[in-house]
Formats: sequence, structure tokens, C-alpha cells
Amino acid sequence: MSIIPGHRVILHGGDYNPEQWKSSPEIWERDFELMREAGTNTFTLGVFSWAQYEPREGVFEFGWLDHIMDRMAEEGHRVILATPSGARPPWMAKKYPEVRRVNQQGLREPFQHRHNHCWQSPIYRTKVREINSQLVARYGAHPALGMWHISNELSGDCYCELCQRRWWRWLEERYGSLDALNAAWWTTFWSHTFTAWDEIDPRADSMDGLALDWRRFNTHQIIEWYRWEADPIRSATPQIPITTNFMGALFPTDYAAFGKEVDVITDDQYPEYDGEAENLLDRVTRVAFKNDLFRSFKPGRPWMLMECAPDAVQWRPYYRFKDPALHRAEMFQALGHGAEGTCYFQWRKSRGAMEKLHSAVVDHVGHSGTRVFKQVAEVGRSYAKLNEILDTQVSQARVGVIYDWESWWAYDRTCGTPSRNDTFQLTAVEHYRPWWNLGIGVDVISSTDDFTPYRVLVLPQMWMLKRGVAARLKSFVQAGGVVLMTANSAVCDETNLCLLGGMPGDGLREVFGVWVEEVESLPPELKRVIVPAEGTAFSAAKYEADCFASVVHAEGAEVLANYANSFYAGTPALTVHRFGEGRAYYLAARFDRELLQELADQVADALGLERFLGEGKPSGVSVQAREAGSMRILFVQNFNDDATTVPLPEFALEDLETGVRHTNALPLDAFSSGVFRIVESSV
Ligand code: GLA
Ligand code: ZN
Repeated sequence: MSIIPGHRVILHGGDYNPEQWKSSPEIWERDFELMREAGTNTFTLGVFSWAQYEPREGVFEFGWLDHIMDRMAEEGHRVILATPSGARPPWMAKKYPEVRRVNQQGLREPFQHRHNHCWQSPIYRTKVREINSQLVARYGAHPALGMWHISNELSGDCYCELCQRRWWRWLEERYGSLDALNAAWWTTFWSHTFTAWDEIDPRADSMDGLALDWRRFNTHQIIEWYRWEADPIRSATPQIPITTNFMGALFPTDYAAFGKEVDVITDDQYPEYDGEAENLLDRVTRVAFKNDLFRSFKPGRPWMLMECAPDAVQWRPYYRFKDPALHRAEMFQALGHGAEGTCYFQWRKSRGAMEKLHSAVVDHVGHSGTRVFKQVAEVGRSYAKLNEILDTQVSQARVGVIYDWESWWAYDRTCGTPSRNDTFQLTAVEHYRPWWNLGIGVDVISSTDDFTPYRVLVLPQMWMLKRGVAARLKSFVQAGGVVLMTANSAVCDETNLCLLGGMPGDGLREVFGVWVEEVESLPPELKRVIVPAEGTAFSAAKYEADCFASVVHAEGAEVLANYANSFYAGTPALTVHRFGEGRAYYLAARFDRELLQELADQVADALGLERFLGEGKPSGVSVQAREAGSMRILFVQNFNDDATTVPLPEFALEDLETGVRHTNALPLDAFSSGVFRIVESSV
């Protein structure tokens, strides 16, 4: 499938700011030559161009963009045309102060930076619609137009009067009455009972229910904003897809909810792929998790990296080069996980201001002789040989890891959870890792998504139990599914009120055959020792757990491992309960990687889950599968800093770029990435 209708290529290009070079048209022409040389085909324009489109209120100048759009069309490129609402001209901020955001201290921000407009300002909304309608009228039928890009990295909170009024109305729509809201937030605590909507200050976050709802409201406000911009554009140009760029798996915005609104999921990704960093594999796993999360927002549909850096970024404490092999690896990793385009921020380095040192395809030197340009051109040459992947989809995963933003917010805002240092997401990644390691496909889904495609569901700290989820989990296990759930799951309901009657709540005690009495969170230096029970298949005499540990009573579950230190030594740490045709594992603590891996191995073997490269795949090698009918393509990447070999007992692999066929084994250089079609070994 092509992301951009009629543009059957792997999208490759980037954010381009020709408006910064209006007085040097020779640079524009040079750019078009270099774009050809780099094997690029898609460019994002106009993200921060408002002051160029409308230098004075009501005076519009589009001549420069007309020229660039025409040249793009002549070159056969497609443009992802942004609406400019991410930043506004100073004249507007001065004349209409209400467009500027109000911060938590109640102060209106001065004119500065970007991504900081009020979500409700009627004047800003009107101005944005005006400028957007000019863009639509002028370029809606332009042959270079490939996709609309609403604003940029929509995010942030505004506490102005208008936004607070919208918040009160949203609360009223959600709860219907103040009595219902007071009950949901448990406002009898600290005498917080509200008697009027306008008493509800969004900063009163001692009520974690309020803090949770403010995040929900903020996501709602952002989606509303997106619709404000997108709806008229969609009516005018229904054939052109619309997107907005997300920022990775970030806390403040529920991207799973937002993802439902956009036509194409697009993400900005800036991982630190540093070949000299000891924890490179941790970073790689985290990106794999995020890629599977974003892909799972729209099953079966391609997504794209809207932005990634071709080399160093200037906003990190250290300005580190990107190893050329890891540059390629980052791009190929995205494609393996379902992307069909990888674009850079940015095409050409600006001369001045904040991002003049941010890496770009074209450096200040202005020619193609740089290391970075050559790297990009190399990727461009590879992409030209990989168009076959556009006919494939990521193979259906049988393992689903559940990751809910609302659960994350509720957990993080609850005083007393081990929420320090990004524990929620890191714990989810730790429980994703063993499956990824096995070379098994994984979807990262919401608890409200359909469970039927899966044979295994993994619930890392599924703090919030949404309505209906317990019943669906119960049927899933009854019908033969396997569920692995950790402590800190099924603790609270959707308003973050604790479920009564013992954890895990809402009937899940019966499914897991356990009662979880209490959970402690551990300081970093403190570990729990975990010892497998006799007769179990674990290979070591003991394992460890960190971060959190719970005290569990088996109520019908079989105990697979016990704690061996602290006063609760001898009590269950890992249990399994046969329920219906399936099994429900309870992981009472956050186990170390060895124990989690062995557990995943055992479950995968028991269910006969397919490992894309069989049993012999070395660790640190990632394999992702895409397929079309009986044709399967594997993305194989070695993230180890030394060479390794993958045995191929079952099939041969043909390299899509070189045509080379590997029959018994696939040799992989350090940090290498390749794309292979499976062929019969006998051939
Ligand atoms: C974000 C923005 C870009 C640019 C890059 C720099 O992703 O969308 O405009 O500032 O960061 O890394
Ligand atoms: Zn506001």
C-alpha cells in the first residue's frame, strides 16, 4: 500500500525550509540537484512559514511556495504540506495577546518559541482557518501535494480563562452532575467537595482523579484542535490523506486515542543509537516497543517516521555522531516494524537560530561530499531496491502487550506507586523484551482492543481496569489464551478509585487463582530473591526482582516460584492458574530479564508460537517479518558490536538488495541490517 496515493516508493526525504533561503534562489536549485543525488522523494514544507505567508495582517505572499511546489512536481517528488499553526508571527502575538498560552502560574507567556498557542482562543482559531483555507485553495489540486500535515507536535497545557471554561464544560459532559464528580474524585478527602463547576481549579492535583481527568481533557482538547484544522481540509480535498506528527511514546498525550483521528500514523523519533553506549540494546528494544505500539494503532496499515535525525542533535547534552551502520539500522528497524517511509529533520541546516547545529542531510558546506550526505544517499539507493515491501504487511502477531495511556496517567499520578524514573514504561518494555528477543511478532495494544488475534496477552502493571476488560480477559483465558499479569494490575477503576474486595479486582482473583494482599516498592539497591519451586523447568537456582514486589496468597493457583529473602520469604512470587482451556500467570514482582526470558520461552514452546528465525537466533539480533500471501520478507538486524551468524536450518534467505542467497547460515556484521526474502533451501 502506498502512504501517499500514487507515490509508490518508500518515502524518503525530510523537513525542508526553503523560506529561509528566499534571497538565494541558486540554493533552491542546488537543493533540487542534491535531492536527486540523495535518492529522496518526499518533503515536508511550510511547518513554520506563517510569517512568510502573511508578513502583515491580511497581506499574503505565496510566490515562493508556488515556485517550490512547481519544482517539486517537475522533479516527481511529493510534498507533505503543513498548516502553519505550530508558530505564529510576532505581529499576531502582539495584537491579539489571547493567542498566547497561560502557564501554570497563571501568567500569559511572552512572544517566544513555538507550540504554545491557546487551544481555545477564538481569534487564533479564526486566523488558523483563514490561512489554512488559503493553502487549500491554492495547493489542494497541485500535482505535488501528497499529504496534509496539521500543525506540528501538537502538545502542551493552557490554563487561561477560556481553557478553564472548556474544562468545566467537559467535566459536566463527562459526569453529568457535581455529585457524580465528587464521588469519582473522592473529594470528601481534605474537604474538597465542589459545589460549582468553576471551583474546580485544574491544578488541584492532590486529587489524583482530577489529575487523571486533566490529562484526558488535554488529549481531548488536542484532538478537538486537530479536527478544527482537519475537517475543512478534508471536505475540500477528500482524496488527500491528513496526518500530524506524534512524538514517540510520551506521557502527556494519549496517542492511541489520537491515532484514531489521523489517516496515517506518523512519528518523530530521536533515539540515541550510540554504538559506544553500553545500553544500546536497551535503547533499541525501547524503540522496537514504541514502533510496535504505533503500528498497532492502525492494524494492517503502514505508518511512517516523519522525522528522525541523520546525525547528531543539538539539544542533547553531548553532540554525538551517529555511526553510519546505526543510521541505516534505525531506518530499517522502522520499516521492519511496519513503516513505509523514513524522513529526516532536516533537509538543510539553517544558518542561524536554535537549530543551526542540528544535523541535516545538507550541511553548511553545501555539497554532497559529507559523510552524512553519503549515508543518506546510501539509504536512498537501498530503498530503491526494496519497493517490494510496499506490497506486504507485518505478519499477524500472536502476542499482545497491553499499554494504556490512561492507566499510565492514573498510576503515575497516584501517590505511593513506584512511579519514579519512568517505571511504568520501562516495566512495559521489560515485559515486551523477551518476546522480541525470541523473534516473535508482538503487538502493543490497548486493553479495549480486540483480543481475538492473540494467543498470549501480557499485562505489565495494568493499573486501571477499564469497564468490561476483566470479563474479556476471563473469556480469553477460558477459551485457551495465556495471560501474564504483573503486580500493580487491576488495582483501580477508570476514575482511579481503588477496587474493593482484594486485588486483582473485578473477578480476576478467580481467573488468576490468587489474592494479592499488598505491594511494596523497593529502593534501587534492594532486590528480592526469587527461587523456583521444585519440579519446575527453570534453569537457575535463583533469580532476582526489583522495583516492586507483592505478597500473594494462592487461591487455587500453582506456585512456580517463591520469595527467598525478607520477612515474606517462602510466599509465592510466581503462580499459574489453569482456568478453562487457558492459563493465567501472576508475576508478583518485577523479575529480572533471565526469569522473564525463561518464562516467555516456556509459554512460547507450550503454545508452539512461531519464531521467525527458529531457535538458533543469537541474542541482540532483531528479526521482524512482513508478508504478502505466501511470500515472507524478514528484516534481520544485528545490534551487537561484533559479527555473528544466524543458522538457517529450515529455509534459505535471498538478500533483496544484493540478490545474494544464504543457504545454511546468515553471516551478520556488527550493527548490520538486511532485508531478505525466504526461499526454499533445496533450491
Ligand atoms: C521536533 C520538531 C522539529 C525539530 C526537531 C529537532 O521533532 O518537530 O521541528 O525541532 O524536533 O530535533
Ligand atoms: Zn487557553
